[in-house]
Amino acid sequence: MPNITFTSPEHRDKTVYAPAGSHKETILKVAKANRVPIEFSCEDGECGTCLVKVTVIDAHKDKHAGHLTPKERTVLKELKKVTQDDLDRMDVTDIAPDYRLACQCIVRDEDILVEYGTGELS
Ligand code: FES
Repeated sequence: MPNITFTSPEHRDKTVYAPAGSHKETILKVAKANRVPIEFSCEDGECGTCLVKVTVIDAHKDKHAGHLTPKERTVLKELKKVTQDDLDRMDVTDIAPDYRLACQCIVRDEDILVEYGTGELS
């Protein structure tokens, strides 16, 4: 089971164990279930409100490699958090970018750090 550590300058860090079968859970769902106040609005990958930075903290694993949904690709590009080059490279390497949409990013079996609510994220 993965550990997810949520960190924000405005709130105390919180580490939670993602529930079994969590490979279907998004970061936002896990955050809400654990009362982590990640901002959100549409919950459907369209508004970009739930932007977070995701870092894999398991030294033995590569960078978070969860697949981006088509909506997530579009919004991250609009927010200038990825370029088309980044997306093209990602299609080849299967290595995801640092910035993700919490409502779209599925929790995988790896320990991650999720940064939310920082000025530079918005
Ligand atoms: S809440 Fe709108 S994109 Fe995630």
